[in-house]
Amino acid sequence: MVLSARDLRRDFGGFTAVKNVNLDVHHAQVHALIGPNGAGKTTVFNLLTKFLQPTSGKITLLGHDITKTAPARVARMGLVRSFQISAIFPHLTLLENVRVALQRPEHLAVQFWQPLSKLNVLNDKAMALLESVGLQNEYDSQAADLSYGRKRVLEIATTLALDPKVLLLDEPMAGMGGEDVGMVAELIRKVAKTRAVLMVEHNLKVVSDLCDHITVLQRGEILAQGDYATVSNDERVKVAYLGTDHDG
Ligand SMILES: Nc1ncnc2c1ncn2[C@@H]1O[C@H](COP(=O)(O)OP(=O)(O)OP(=O)(O)O)[C@@H](O)[C@H]1O
Ligand SMILES: [Mg+2]
Repeated sequence: MVLSARDLRRDFGGFTAVKNVNLDVHHAQVHALIGPNGAGKTTVFNLLTKFLQPTSGKITLLGHDITKTAPARVARMGLVRSFQISAIFPHLTLLENVRVALQRPEHLAVQFWQPLSKLNVLNDKAMALLESVGLQNEYDSQAADLSYGRKRVLEIATTLALDPKVLLLDEPMAGMGGEDVGMVAELIRKVAKTRAVLMVEHNLKVVSDLCDHITVLQRGEILAQGDYATVSNDERVKVAYLGTDHDG
């Protein structure tokens, strides 16, 4: 288990957005966080990445207590949240976008006076990263010219530049058509072979195809956890979220 939350709680004034949340995210698994609008999914993401401080509870990353750790440090420790497409520089090429991301980690910081050979190493790394997500043929295209789905793939590639141990994705398929959903799902499956992925996802077909473990939130609390079969057969989940006539 790489990431865990114990008795996580977050109050906003008198309103409790998240409470009694116990969660274990495992290496090489895709873990989904699902639940109706306002269930607390994004708040849980913000708590785990430390963008929000929990009111109470404990968060552990790779055996370290990160409950009081600053978000930038948590990211350096390997818990990386993917931001939306706006994280991409539209007027840079794909290769340049990935290079910018690779230069971010301090140990790779490239100074302008460094020899050309170092820059070539960076180019090679950027190219390898593009290859790993299947965008190598478009390396010289402007990011702005990519399809919506491929922009999302590029955006995931920029987060992979940080080599996260746990990757958090908030609705990675939002606004996509079927073909793009398949492409991004395939990438997430591949990415999760060597790290943990925690994602918020509304598309239950995607969740059933892709996710090893599912946590269902309702009004800030966990309603059910388990694999898709377990969760989708849970009577309370059927009533609260999937709808009693759900057939999947
Ligand atoms: N900063 C805040 N101040 C007050 N209330 C908040 C704040 N952030 C979230 N909430 C409330 O906490 C609850 C959970 O919100 P959250 O955004 O986590 O839900 P969600 O599951 O991500 O919903 P969605 O599916 O719509 O994205 C909601 O009732 C929301 O209004
Ligand atoms: Mg949300």
